[in-house]
Parts: sequence; structure tokens; C-alpha cells
Amino acid sequence: MEPNRIWHDPVVEIYSNLITPGVRYSAEAYDLANRRWDRLDITESEVPDDDWLSSTVADHIRTYYAVHKLAPWWNTISKTARDSPATFEARPDGVVSRPITLSWGTEPLFYGTQPTDKLPTTSIDELEQLTYISRSADRCLWRGQDCVFKRIEFNVGIKPITQEIRAREALIDATGPLPEGSDVNDEMVRRKPWEPGSVAGLLMPYCGPDLEMLVRDEEKAAALPVTGRQLRELVRGVKELGRCGVQHGDIKYWNTVFHPGSGDEKATLVLIDFDSEAPEYDGDAEDLGTLLLWCVDHAKGLRDDRGAKARVVAAAAGLRAEGDFDAAIACLSDHHSDVAGDARI
Ligand SMILES: Nc1ncnc2c1ncn2[C@@H]1O[C@H](COP(=O)(O)OP(=O)(O)OP(=O)(O)O)[C@@H](O)[C@H]1O
Ligand SMILES: [Mg+2]
Repeated sequence: MEPNRIWHDPVVEIYSNLITPGVRYSAEAYDLANRRWDRLDITESEVPDDDWLSSTVADHIRTYYAVHKLAPWWNTISKTARDSPATFEARPDGVVSRPITLSWGTEPLFYGTQPTDKLPTTSIDELEQLTYISRSADRCLWRGQDCVFKRIEFNVGIKPITQEIRAREALIDATGPLPEGSDVNDEMVRRKPWEPGSVAGLLMPYCGPDLEMLVRDEEKAAALPVTGRQLRELVRGVKELGRCGVQHGDIKYWNTVFHPGSGDEKATLVLIDFDSEAPEYDGDAEDLGTLLLWCVDHAKGLRDDRGAKARVVAAAAGLRAEGDFDAAIACLSDHHSDVAGDARI
């Protein structure tokens, strides 16, 4: 496990399950939450399915951690049958893990040496207390600041991260350089030990939970605090993106985070994940309209306020049918102020 990582309950995925003579199955398992590879060898007549394999690996990892408060020293689990006891072994890391640069001949991504490279870089050694958020993202501390490190986890991550870098550069081109002191934005880190000097991912400020997380949690879902004012600001932001020649490409509730604000600063919705254009993408305006409708369905404050609801629905319809940002902004502004704690628009 990386030395700067905080333990998390395992989240294990199976990447392959090979059959060898003697009906032995060898599964390659990756614990996304702790970023470690394990292998499970089992002699069985029945093909073990991925769910069984991943829960078996996760159970062994969890049990070891519960007793020792350490990541397992082993990376190979062997069983003679499903219900037999397991034996454990540490094989050389290169045998068990699937390093980024070895498969499919993908080139690592280098950045920071060309005059056209605009974003500052930092070293992965400067990240502390990494902890799992999702397949590609960890929360961490960087120079004392609460950040998200979006990592190139597999070869397939190189292209989206490259696109995300380009999108951010295009924004900087359009809006001018970042102000002094805001260098926490858009940092690259160098991934070690896979390929010294290559890009390991993007570092950005942690903005808050994404909307999917909020609705997953029943209690928070009931009070999803999205307001018309936040939606208006979001529409303004996407319009501005388009003006800068950048298409987001995947505007969805799971790519929208709720930034609660602090002190006098009001809560805002922030779009993340500028990395791709999803296949058959309908365009930013249309997806933004769909996101607005999703918010009406999920934010009780909006749903229960008939006037606010009607305005959001009308704004969404305009975005979806005409791609009309200005009409949507006007609709959401409709001189109903957001006094009373943003409950109204
Ligand atoms: N700046 C941020 N602030 C807060 N959370 C973030 C931020 N960036 C990413 N996240 C979290 O990490 C998750 C994954 O990030 P992102 O959407 O950019 O990547 P992805 O390509 O969809 O990866 P994955 O397959 O891991 O979901 C997001 O859904 C969100 O929960
Ligand atoms: Mg995403």
C-alpha cells in the first residue's frame, strides 16, 4: 500500500480469472480503496463468479486488517476449495500487480517541460493522507489544503486525463492566467514508481460531495439543498464555458459537486470531470436541461415550491429544445429573489 494512504474498507474488483490445467482458477483482484493488487488461486470444479471472488478477497483483506491494523503482508491467497481454509503468500509485486505502463504498450504521459504546458506540476510525494473516493479519485492533503487527486489508475485513464488537462488549458487561455496564490488549482503530480517524471493525475481542490453521493444517503437526499440560485449560477457557468470554446462533455448529477461555501460565501454547484465526451453525448445545453429536471425531482425545496419548480422546468425545456442559455438564465432570475435562505428563486 502507498505509504501516504489511509486505510479504507476494501472495494475489490476482479480483472481476470484464468483457468489453468487441474481446474485451477487464478483471479487478479484489485482493491480500489487501498490501491493494492491480490491474486486468488482456487482449485474448484465449478467456475467461481466474479462476485464470489471479489467478496472472498475482500473478506480476507478485511479480516487481516481487523486483527493487525495493517495492510496484509501477502498478495496471494490460495484455497483448495471454496470452503477450505486459505493460505497466504507474498509474491514479487510485478508478478501480481498490473502496472500502468506495461500492458497494451501505452505511452506514459509527460507534462511540464514544454513551453506550451501551462499548469504547474507537483510531486506525488507531497500528497498526504490519501483516501479513497472512487475508482479514479482520492481525497488528500496537499500543502495543508483539502484536495482531490484524480489519478491515472489504468492505461485507459491516460487519454481522459490528457483531455482534462487540455480543457483546463483552454480555459486558462480564454480567461487569463490563474491569479497569484491559486496554484492549488489544476496541479499535475508525477507518478512513482511506475514511470519517473510522468503524470500520475490531476490535483484540484476538494469541493464537496457529488450529487449522486448526496442522494445515496437517504437522510441527506431528503434535504438536498439545491436552490434555483445555484442552478442559475450553474447555467451561467456552462454558458461561459461554451464562450471559452470548451465543451464539458458529460454534465450529469454524478459529475456535479455541492460546494457548501463558508462564511458569507453561498453554496454553489461545481462541475467536475472535464475529461471526455461520452458516446452519443447530446451536448452541454441538453444535458444541463436534464440535470435541472433531475434537481427538481430530487430537491424537496424546489419541488414543493410551485413557482420555483415551474421556472426550473421552463429553463430546462428551453435548454433542451433550443440550447438557449440566456432564456434559461432569465427564467431562473425572474425577479423572485433568493432571500429567505435561498429557498426561492
Ligand atoms: N474537485 C472535486 N471535489 C470533490 N469531489 C471530487 C472532485 N473531483 C472529483 N471528485 C469525486 O471523485 C469522483 C470521480 O471523479 P471524476 O468524476 O472526475 O472522475 P471519473 O472519470 O468519473 O472517475 P470514476 O470512474 O472514479 O467515477 C467524483 O464523482 C466525485 O465524487
Ligand atoms: Mg465522473
